[in-house]
Amino acid sequence: MTDPLAQMPDHFLSSTDLTGEQVTALLDLADELKAERAQRVAAGERIERGTLAGKTVAMIFEKPSTRTRVSFQVAVSELGGHPLSLSSAELQLGRGETIADTGAVLSRYVHGIVVRTFGQDRIDDLAAAATVPVVNALTDLEHPCQALADLQTFREVHGGFEGRSLAYVGDGNNVTHSLLLAGALVGLSIRVGHPEGYGPDAAIVEQAQQIAARTGASITVTTDPVAAVDGADAVYADVWTSMGQENQAEERLERFVPYRVTSELLSHTADGAIFLHCLPAHRGEEVTAEVIDGPTSHVFDQAENRLHAQKALLATLLT
Ligand code: CP
Ligand code: NVA
Repeated sequence: MTDPLAQMPDHFLSSTDLTGEQVTALLDLADELKAERAQRVAAGERIERGTLAGKTVAMIFEKPSTRTRVSFQVAVSELGGHPLSLSSAELQLGRGETIADTGAVLSRYVHGIVVRTFGQDRIDDLAAAATVPVVNALTDLEHPCQALADLQTFREVHGGFEGRSLAYVGDGNNVTHSLLLAGALVGLSIRVGHPEGYGPDAAIVEQAQQIAARTGASITVTTDPVAAVDGADAVYADVWTSMGQENQAEERLERFVPYRVTSELLSHTADGAIFLHCLPAHRGEEVTAEVIDGPTSHVFDQAENRLHAQKALLATLLT
């Protein structure tokens, strides 16, 4: 059988740039890298591998970031490469240079470009002009690296995806979109419970449904939070107001209250269900402190898995 990772796409801009087989193989590699790192740390050995030796990876952030910035930076370093973290404010991008020109220029210096930006059109423009792989580190439409770490975390706990479901409760946003697509690719059923008017993008839902029809998963979108989580193996929350939507924060705060993840909401899930959140979290808004700081929460494993999943991605996309 051919190795699905032998034929990686040019870029990773959307979860659907990968096949289900590629996602599964990346998760396997991420698990391996995680185990190897733990062993080396325990033995007091150097963590570094030479996979990206001599390679520089530029990271452009047009929005704030803690996890993505640090996990990518550490991932590149631990693979033996050189990470270059850049904010748009310190680039000519902040003074109006086009994102396409930025991509073309950086391609002359570096071996990969990781980008966090606003519209998906911006990363598409950058990738079209770049001659090196481009990775989506969050756009308004998707957060595909997050979804890889989320699936890795889900699989660590539940052992697989077949016949299992994850319920996302809250705003139908970038994180929801990548979960819908990546979940469908690996055969994990995704249910979304959202307030009226704040659902996921209809085209993404349709795309996820088409993929799910092939992989045996199901996609459910409802405005009833209890129906969404009923019998689910994981409940996932994200902020009610994403970066760039700050002017809607007040109205969202009122509309989203019935979608807060509480212990009561979790009482409707399957035995052994876990709580997930991409972080940063707002305790008392989308999730209670009792839930996020409680025994079913795996949010810090998710944050850690960003490192392992992105190492697996970079090691295969850039070599
Ligand atoms: N989850 C996530 O992407 O976090 P950051 O915004 O801190 O990178
Ligand atoms: N949906 C959130 C995710 C942050 C990691 C946002 O886009 O701000």
